Amino acid sequence: MKKIVILTGAGISAESGLGTFRDADGLWAQHRIEDVATPEGFVRNPDLVHRFYNARRVQAAQAQPNAAHHALARLQAEWPGPVVIVTQNVDSLHEAGGARDVIHMHGTLSGALCWACGHRWTAPDAMRSGEPCPACRAPTGRPDVVWFGEMPYHMSEISDHLATADLFAAIGTSGQVYPAAAFVFEAAAAGAHTVELNLDASDVASDFDEVRQGPATRLVPDWVAQLLARRSDAQAGP
Ligand code: OAD
Repeated sequence: MKKIVILTGAGISAESGLGTFRDADGLWAQHRIEDVATPEGFVRNPDLVHRFYNARRVQAAQAQPNAAHHALARLQAEWPGPVVIVTQNVDSLHEAGGARDVIHMHGTLSGALCWACGHRWTAPDAMRSGEPCPACRAPTGRPDVVWFGEMPYHMSEISDHLATADLFAAIGTSGQVYPAAAFVFEAAAAGAHTVELNLDASDVASDFDEVRQGPATRLVPDWVAQLLARRSDAQAGP
């Protein structure tokens, strides 16, 4: 059974109305990364950081999964081998579209984390400065998202999946943020066929075996339909 590992980024949620980071009108054109997406920024001004993530939490809760999210859920349901979805996105649109066991390497907007004791709980719609931890009562609640300078989550599980992938796809990600941008090398080293599906060529596009350009809502359903049409190859084994 051929194993498929998929990495997604902000581009897959763009057509659901959620802004990307690095496109011309993206989040990083409106906010300084150092202010809202680093541990130091949170220590300096927790109110500002909470306001930033509270706004994104409200926006994400109103967004609906699009045809690309649904297509990946269909692939998981119908492909005869394992299909692992790793996302850099902090929204829950893969799950809302029907995907299972999504690995959120940059955390989720729906989660809160205690910086003191490590306890995790469901984030309220609006977190605030001094948010109390329900377990240890310290006023050290923060969004359960990974900031620049912090280690992404689930890295050893992801490396194990990449090392056993037969097919690796990166969808809607600019290839500018590591370690995710290097997954293509890990998958290729394991002998996987690699494909990029993105609106524009990413920074690492030349490292993929195959590059398809266009909007995710068109590219991803087409790619999934092609894979499923060839599903008898997968049953034949790698
Ligand atoms: P970026 O904003 O860096 O890149 C989004 C990519 O999606 C770009 O290459 C766009 O061309 C592409 N894109 C835009 N619209 C698209 C569409 N409709 N269909 C397909 N592709 C489209 O976002 P990420 O690569 O996800 O990390 O960013 C990676 C990380 O950097 C994020 O997880 C976040 C950010 O800073 C943290 O906050 C730690």
